[in-house]
Amino acid sequence: MTSRNYLSELFSLDGRVALVTGGSSGIGRAIAGALARAGASVVIVARKEPELAATVAELTADGCRAAWVSADLSTRDGVRAAADKAAAVFGEPDILVNSAGINLRPPMGELSEEVWDATMAVNLEAPYVLGQRFGPGMAERGFGRIIHITSQQAHRAFVQSGAYGVSKGALESLARSQAEAWSPHGVTCNTLVPGFVMTPLNVRLSSDPDKVAALAERTMVGRNGLAEDFAGAAVFLAGRGSGYVTGQAIFVDGGLSVH
Ligand SMILES: NC(=O)c1ccc[n+]([C@@H]2O[C@H](COP(=O)([O-])OP(=O)(O)OC[C@H]3O[C@@H](n4cnc5c(N)ncnc54)[C@H](OP(=O)(O)O)[C@@H]3O)[C@@H](O)[C@H]2O)c1
Repeated sequence: MTSRNYLSELFSLDGRVALVTGGSSGIGRAIAGALARAGASVVIVARKEPELAATVAELTADGCRAAWVSADLSTRDGVRAAADKAAAVFGEPDILVNSAGINLRPPMGELSEEVWDATMAVNLEAPYVLGQRFGPGMAERGFGRIIHITSQQAHRAFVQSGAYGVSKGALESLARSQAEAWSPHGVTCNTLVPGFVMTPLNVRLSSDPDKVAALAERTMVGRNGLAEDFAGAAVFLAGRGSGYVTGQAIFVDGGLSVH
């Protein structure tokens, strides 16, 4: 066996179908690109059409198979409709990545029920509804990969974690419940845990050079995260080679969480 064939057995996503929420920006966009370049047919879901179209155009130009669905994942009906539309493109997904997320940041004392509900809807309920929609089918087919993007705030408070940290903590619990249900049928469910990543989500913090430098100092690698840092871990979790890894929270944070 050549090394190329060996690597392909472990990591190739040829013939797989992936759905990536939030695939038009930041971490989700990098993961969508990684899965597509590893061979998967990828459907990305988010709201803004220009960003969706630009991402798909870039991937298609690179020889990848990709498509987009514009949808608002802040209501359960919206999520269900998005799931049906996405599955109609290349078929039912083998790989589901939940990267769409919002961080509204009011401190706990000022947190309104509207912000709480909005945060839970996008960060927690959408992944739950998508899991219910696609998990059983993956289990029936004997292969599936569910990957959630959580946060260091699932593990500790950080810059007004408010509702956001709660939603991410629950998302890690959701991954464990899903893993318990579907791992016996070949469906692994894990989370990737970012530290501080330079994306549009945290533009307020990442546009302050002093804060950026102070946060980089807290990592072991000596810099903040980039969206591209998630490519390798996502391909690993999406492929055959990670079949015995399930229910786990895998930190991709330059050592921030252990420093
Ligand atoms: N950046 C960090 O430092 C960091 C740290 C820890 C965890 N994370 C997590 O990583 C994930 C990705 O974050 P990011 O930094 O890559 O953020 P980002 O660049 O802001 O991307 C967020 C994505 O989610 C989509 N989205 C947001 N609300 C949506 C809705 N209601 N319906 C559909 N799509 C929606 C956005 O597209 P539209 O706006 O077009 O809908 C966009 O594609 C999030 O779950 C975030 O919580 C990020």
